[in-house]
Amino acid sequence: MHLTKEEERVLAGERGEVAARSMRLLTKLGDIYGAEKMIPIGSAQVAGVSYKSIGDPGRDFLEDYAKLGAKVKVPTFLNPAGMDIEDWEELKFPKKFAEQQMRIMEAFRKMGIIMSASCTPYLAGNLPRYREHIAWSESSAVAFSNSVIGARTNREGGPSALAAAICGVTPDYGYHRDENREPHFHIKVSAKLEFSSDFGALGWFVGKIVKDKIPYFTGLPEAGTDELKALGAAMAASGAVALYHAEGLTPDARWAKKDNLQSVDFTPRDLAETYAKLSPAKDPDLVVIGCPHASMKEIARVAELLEGKHLKKPLWVCTSRVMKEAARRMGYAAVIEKAGGKIVADTCMVVAPIEEMGFKTTGVNSGKAASYLPGHCKQNVMYGRVEDLIEAASK
Ligand code: F3S
Repeated sequence: MHLTKEEERVLAGERGEVAARSMRLLTKLGDIYGAEKMIPIGSAQVAGVSYKSIGDPGRDFLEDYAKLGAKVKVPTFLNPAGMDIEDWEELKFPKKFAEQQMRIMEAFRKMGIIMSASCTPYLAGNLPRYREHIAWSESSAVAFSNSVIGARTNREGGPSALAAAICGVTPDYGYHRDENREPHFHIKVSAKLEFSSDFGALGWFVGKIVKDKIPYFTGLPEAGTDELKALGAAMAASGAVALYHAEGLTPDARWAKKDNLQSVDFTPRDLAETYAKLSPAKDPDLVVIGCPHASMKEIARVAELLEGKHLKKPLWVCTSRVMKEAARRMGYAAVIEKAGGKIVADTCMVVAPIEEMGFKTTGVNSGKAASYLPGHCKQNVMYGRVEDLIEAASK
């Protein structure tokens, strides 16, 4: 790889040991993937935050970095942690877990990383621009930023995103380059999609087929950001999709080369069968909405549906701290809490230790959560629309 004089100096240790180590990692990655140079990034987003995911070795690694004086060079945001950083006690997160989680947060804080703890940074303070190069690692946020915003990032791992944050650059390969952003599959959607969970089901179905390739959708209805984030998150989880195009909806769809694509249909029958596959359970002991983290519109909808209801099972709406605070001001939090639900910030059902908290069956409207809950959290899953989940939590 060709490095600039400044990058050479970082590699030689001029900015300290951690920066040198980080530049070494980025250079190795660049060599492996055939990058010719580094490119500056506008922001980074670091996954591997929950104590449940990274454990003691991850905590020690981060504390070591912080002790050595590591500092990020670009605005860097954090993925969800393992608990609500402020209300963990009230939500009954285990104390021992909380202590470890707070050590991890402190290490990130010392490095200058913004403790946003959200998988929707684009809704909570970090919106990249079209064609901006970034280094993000949360898979649903990668799919959203590449596809819906038209920014450019690879699916970074936690360590490579952190290295990019410290150096302010990333190797120029993969989704950063025009030639790697062309579609491989044409997904023809004839099923009627109305709810976010319909988009999650479509994403789950498509991710299984296309794996890490790029789908091009036709036949989608006028979808909003909530539906598109659900679609990308599910494809990123059941497959490894980092970028998709949707005719009339995503910015790069109009330039995409549409010849010789492999064709896949998504029919009303496929939609019904996907719901059935994703939903082996019927009777959740926990319902969680907000994967990816809920927008204000989604929180408002839950509040509307819960007005005057009394839930018999716990219901969480997972979101960012910014949205939780705004929901409190708007009175949505009060309505949800009066019904027996909670707005939970900074975490989600997958990275929180829900299995340790005694839950066995979780109700979700997210294709990503439905993919991960059985393996990561030993959960049975009920999959459905928000309305169905609220009904299940009311029984
Ligand atoms: Fe976000 Fe957790 Fe889903 S990190 S995308 S809410 S699995």
